Amino acid sequence: MKRYEDRAWRASMRIKVDFNNMLCTHVGKHGIDPAQIQARAEQYKAAAAAMEAKRAEGMKWRNLPHNQDGVVKELLEAAKYVRENFETFVVLGIGGSALGPIAVHQALRNLRYNDLPAAKRGGPKLYVEDNVDPERMASLFEVIDLEHTCFNVITKSGSTSETMSQLLLFTDALRRAVGDKWPRHIIATTDENKGNLIKIAREHGLRTFYVPDGVGGRFSELCPVGLLAAAVCGIDIEELLAGAAYMDGLCGEADIWKNPAYMLAALEVLAMEKGCNIGVLMPYADSLKYIADWYAQLWAESLGKNKDLDGNPVHTGQTPVKALGVTDQHSQVQLYTEGPFDKVITFLAVEEYRNRVDIPHAFDGLPDVAFLSGHTFNELIRCEQRATEYAVTKSGHMNKTITLPEVNPFTIGQLLYLFEVQTAFAGELLHINAFDQPGVEEGKNDTYRILGKPG
Ligand code: PA5
Repeated sequence: MKRYEDRAWRASMRIKVDFNNMLCTHVGKHGIDPAQIQARAEQYKAAAAAMEAKRAEGMKWRNLPHNQDGVVKELLEAAKYVRENFETFVVLGIGGSALGPIAVHQALRNLRYNDLPAAKRGGPKLYVEDNVDPERMASLFEVIDLEHTCFNVITKSGSTSETMSQLLLFTDALRRAVGDKWPRHIIATTDENKGNLIKIAREHGLRTFYVPDGVGGRFSELCPVGLLAAAVCGIDIEELLAGAAYMDGLCGEADIWKNPAYMLAALEVLAMEKGCNIGVLMPYADSLKYIADWYAQLWAESLGKNKDLDGNPVHTGQTPVKALGVTDQHSQVQLYTEGPFDKVITFLAVEEYRNRVDIPHAFDGLPDVAFLSGHTFNELIRCEQRATEYAVTKSGHMNKTITLPEVNPFTIGQLLYLFEVQTAFAGELLHINAFDQPGVEEGKNDTYRILGKPG
């Protein structure tokens, strides 16, 4: 039996949301009055009904934790092929095609994964190439051996200039390095019916995975876009999906007081109305650092819209800021405690870290240093998180804390899904389309124009 099949284990791994410090009862006049939440009960009910109605059509990504048994089997086979034949796995993709793979890898593998010797790593090295900086492209050739490298080119549209340029670069290099065998070195992940990548994949017989219909880039981590790289690096993708499915159960409640994602979204929207145009996500774990990057795209690209669903100008959205505890206590926290009341801080806390590191005795003659000895780094980071939460609350700034019992595939699956549903529900409340990105397309299209793409 897998551990996530055990009901008691699942319950012990349930992530917790504490939003007390969003309320005026805890932070004073800059907080939200619980009466405001009660007053909107009807709006929340309608938005919850819309969420359920859209599951089958507009929000097909909601079914990913439940409908991928066959795909998971194929992904595990492909992962085995890569693990047995290659030393390096390179993801080529940008935006939703890159941020999820980076976030999940950082969360669930050793923090110095690529630096470990092969035997300890237990899988190929991973590089995710999401930028087209020429220096970065050139430097990749210095650390990979093409003969032993497999590329996963990911683009839902099959036409993004950055990703297609990278495909051209590495196909050319592979042709020169391994000749006719180059298609064995490329796995394509793209739309089944649209775009150029699927044409290339079919013409050259590339191993291919599909981004399911109705799953947009930033909502695609739990489909082959994210699952392949995770499986290649030895992450238990079935547990990841089980975590998402568990959170789907928790997010199935129509009552906002019982639904963590709906409550988080409602609080953020109320905070936005109070002038909080900035949302800080501050994990207290290096493993969760890139979850903040992934979330920044999800929140910014989904909610940053100039028109509502009726075509009225709204220019809505909340600027996500990524921070890292404790590092940013020595950089941004001064602003969070004493600066303007224009932001909500969300702390991501971890109860049990994967390692315990003691702080030894070395200078017991110096009381101002010696007080640290005998404690652990685990205590230190947790205590600093609580102390920062206290300072931010005392200064009257809204904040909330999401706590993971551990960082493992089950809790990460929950967290990703929680943020996705939160974002979609915020889109409902703001009455905007959270699933398009016309502002991004504008720039993509102008790049095509400048570089002379036909049409
Ligand atoms: O969320 C999105 O839709 C975007 O960020 C896309 O993921 C990004 O623009 C890359 O697009 P594509 O996967 O089509 O290459």
